[in-house]
Amino acid sequence: MSQPSPSPSPFTQRAPRSAQGTAVGSYLLEVQNLRVEFPTAAGPARAVDGVSFTLDRGMRLGLVGESGSGKSTTVLALMQLLKAPGRVTAGRALLAGDDLLEMSAQQMRRTRFSRVALVPQGALNSLNPVLSVRAQIDDLLDAHGQKPDAKERAQHVAALLQRVGLPESVAEQYPHQLSGGMKQRVCIALAIALAPQLIIADEPTSALDVLVQKQVMQTLIHAQKEVGAAIILVGHDMGLMAQFAHVVGVMYAGRLVELAPVKELFAHPRHPYTRMLISSLPSFGARRVFRGIPGVAPSIVHPPSGCAFHPRCPRAEERCSVDVPDEDMVSPGHLVRCYFAREPASAAAPAGIHA
Ligand SMILES: Nc1ncnc2c1ncn2[C@@H]1O[C@H](COP(=O)(O)OP(=O)(O)OP(=O)(O)O)[C@@H](O)[C@H]1O
Ligand SMILES: [Mg+2]
Repeated sequence: MSQPSPSPSPFTQRAPRSAQGTAVGSYLLEVQNLRVEFPTAAGPARAVDGVSFTLDRGMRLGLVGESGSGKSTTVLALMQLLKAPGRVTAGRALLAGDDLLEMSAQQMRRTRFSRVALVPQGALNSLNPVLSVRAQIDDLLDAHGQKPDAKERAQHVAALLQRVGLPESVAEQYPHQLSGGMKQRVCIALAIALAPQLIIADEPTSALDVLVQKQVMQTLIHAQKEVGAAIILVGHDMGLMAQFAHVVGVMYAGRLVELAPVKELFAHPRHPYTRMLISSLPSFGARRVFRGIPGVAPSIVHPPSGCAFHPRCPRAEERCSVDVPDEDMVSPGHLVRCYFAREPASAAAPAGIHA
C-alpha cells in the first residue's frame, strides 16, 4: 500500500464552507479536555488527563505511547465503554456535533456500530464462540433494525466478507475454526457492517504475526476507505503508523504530548519523549516497535509535578517540575507540550539512547 498522501492536519484541514461563508459541519470528532479517573485505594488514578484533538472525515489518526499511557482508556471513554470504576470527570467528545459523553445508554447503543465502531484491544477474543460468523453479523444488523429482507441481508453479509478478503463460506464457520488473521477480519467486517463515520481500532494487529499484520492493516484501511469512515488507530508499531496514519498523537502519562502530521512527526519530532521513542526504533529490518526508553513509567496516582516526563527528560529544567507546559503549535497542525519545543533538535537530543 502506498503512503497516504497528502498528510492532512486536523488543524489546517477545515470543513468546506457554504456560499454564506459558514462552515458546513465542522470536525467529524472534536475531543476537548477529556479526563478519566479510576478511583484506587491510594487515590484517584488520572488515566487520561486533559486530552484534546480533532479528526476530520476520512482521516486516520494514530495514537501511540508506552503501555499504560492511557490510549485504550481514551478510546473506551469515547464509546462509554470504560470498565467500572473508571469514569469521565471532564471533557467533551463531539461526534458531528453530538457529545458522545452525554449520550444516554439507549442513544449510545444506537450510536455504537452505526456511527462509531470499535475493534477492541484483544478483538480476537471478542467474538462469540458459540455463534457462527453469519449469526454474529445477523445479531448486529437485527439490533439496529438493518436489512430485514432476507435476500438483501444475505447479499450484505457476502459483500461484507468480500470487503475484508474472506470467502463467503466463512459465514457458516465458528470463531474456533478461523485463524487469528481471519478472526480479525471478521471483527473488521462487524465494525464496518453499518457503515460508521468513525472506526476505532485498538491494537488491531498486535496479536498477529508480522506478515498477517500488514495484510490485516491493509484490509482495515481498505474497508475504512470504502465506507468513508475516519479512523483512530491505537498501537505500538511506529512502522505501521508511519505507513497508515495521516496524523500521529503521542501519549505520555495520560496526556497527549505531541500531535503532528505523520511525516512531520518522524522528520521533526519536537518533544524529548517523541525524540527518544523515535531514536529507540531499530532502523532497518526488525519491526519498528518501540521497546521503551530509560527510566520508570510514572505513577498516574501520584504523577510527577509539572510535565510528567521531567524525571526522565534529558532536557528538563526546574520549571518543568513546576508547571505543565501549554500546548504550543510549532507549525500548522503540529502541537507540542514542552517548554523546549522550539529548540533545534540537537539542543534536546538525548545522548546515547539507542535500543
Ligand atoms: N480498572 C482500572 N482500575 C485502575 N486503573 C486502571 C484501570 N484500567 C486502566 N487503569 C489504568 O489506566 C492507565 C491507562 O491504561 P490504558 O489501558 O488506557 O493504557 P494503554 O496506553 O492502552 O496501555 P497498553 O499499551 O498496555 O494497552 C494505566 O495506568 C492503567 O493501570
Ligand atoms: Mg491499551
